[in-house]
Amino acid sequence: MQFYIQTFGCQMNENDSRLLASLLQKNGYQEVARPEDAGLILINTCCVRENAENKALGYLGSIKKLYEEDRSRVIVICGCMMQQKGKAELIRSKYPYVKIIMGTFSASRLPEYIAQVSAGTRSIIDVEEHYDGTELKYTPETVEKALDGDYKAQVNISYGCNNFCSYCIVPYVRGRERSRSAADILEEIRLLTENGVREVQLLGQNVNSYGKDLPAAQSCDFASLLEQVCQVPGLRRVRYMTSHPRDFSYDLVDVIRKNPKICHHFHLPLQAGCDELLKRMNRGYSRKYYWELLQYIRSRIPEAVISTDLIVGFPGETEQQFQETLDFVAECRFDAAYTFIYSQRSGTPAAKMPDQIPEEEKKLRLQRLMDVQNAISLELNQAMLGKNYEVMVEGLSKNNADMLSGRTEGNKIVVFPVEAGNQIRPGDCLQLQITAAHTWNLEGELLP
Ligand code: SAH
Ligand code: SF4
Ligand code: F3S
Repeated sequence: MQFYIQTFGCQMNENDSRLLASLLQKNGYQEVARPEDAGLILINTCCVRENAENKALGYLGSIKKLYEEDRSRVIVICGCMMQQKGKAELIRSKYPYVKIIMGTFSASRLPEYIAQVSAGTRSIIDVEEHYDGTELKYTPETVEKALDGDYKAQVNISYGCNNFCSYCIVPYVRGRERSRSAADILEEIRLLTENGVREVQLLGQNVNSYGKDLPAAQSCDFASLLEQVCQVPGLRRVRYMTSHPRDFSYDLVDVIRKNPKICHHFHLPLQAGCDELLKRMNRGYSRKYYWELLQYIRSRIPEAVISTDLIVGFPGETEQQFQETLDFVAECRFDAAYTFIYSQRSGTPAAKMPDQIPEEEKKLRLQRLMDVQNAISLELNQAMLGKNYEVMVEGLSKNNADMLSGRTEGNKIVVFPVEAGNQIRPGDCLQLQITAAHTWNLEGELLP
């Protein structure tokens, strides 16, 4: 049978989809590029904000006609959104053509469930929270097909989250934080590099608390895990996502500084630049603490690229508090920021807080914040003009097929021309000089 996967959400969902694809391939299914060609359509959902849910439901609606064309098609929906209270029942009643509904804990059971519906079971719902260590990973039988020549891969180092930031649904849909053993992680990375992977991104909702839940015999913290990962032969770049500023130790900054393979890119979600809001968000740090961490990183690693996440319109955010965030963002001079409009998530403490901000006001604040940040992003990119950087090639540029595109260590996208016949391949590292700077990317030229 042929299958198609549509993924919404973050890197974790992307990786889950890739691993689900490899599991299906192992069971004899082939992946196709269009849902029209598939007998099995799988939708991996996200619910971190309302628009993520709307996108997934919109997609699910659009699939209905494919089901009506061919009622033997198996439609599967999985991922974070299914793990929310009442969602599975809603899907069952409003979208009866969905055969399998799975949460974030059951992915490895997919082949079993497909076999059951093929044998006549009308529909399956499995959204139970269970911790039986059956998470998906690359295996010697699946890795080659799953990578399909790609030189980049992601590896989960922990699942779930214990932070309960007051706005966030993730801890409710991904469960309690649990770290994988370092031995398991390293084995998976070795398998990946043996199959050509040169860049690995370690994934966790809070990588800095990695290992806190491991039994004494497997004791390991994030700094030591990073050092061990760098020892794996064949790796050129190591990235990680996401860091919680509260748990980012100064020692870790020094481990990163000393290790040339660990990218000097720090993604440190700030969320708000006002202490009162940070407190009500349950972030566990103050503006002063965050500022000192930034100063420490910059003093030890002057070329560090620093990016962040910010939320506007948190309940009760006053104009003055928002202004504090604007001022702080201007002071921090981030290379990039992912800016979000606060989205009320039912079941989270913030959803019940008084003084929810009207949608119109939230949109205005988002625009004001983006205006401040975009000017800074452009200035910092312009400061790269004329300088040389190592760029790892990703492939053809999305907007211009005559150009190649790659990333600097700081995760900045550089687009550059190549002469016909040039044997450059994805994963190659090249020296480029920056020739033009924009807000979101750069242009460069190959150095001889
Ligand atoms: N664990 C990661 C990120 C998880 S979600 C971390 O703590 O950084 C990614 C980003 O989505 C968050 O950093 C936050 O900025 C944003 N986000 C989470 N919940 C949100 C909500 N209810 N409304 C708007 N943005 C939200
Ligand atoms: Fe959500 Fe906070 Fe956990 Fe990140 S650290 S996933 S924002 S609860
Ligand atoms: Fe979305 Fe789940 Fe990631 S809610 S942001 S896909 S952890």
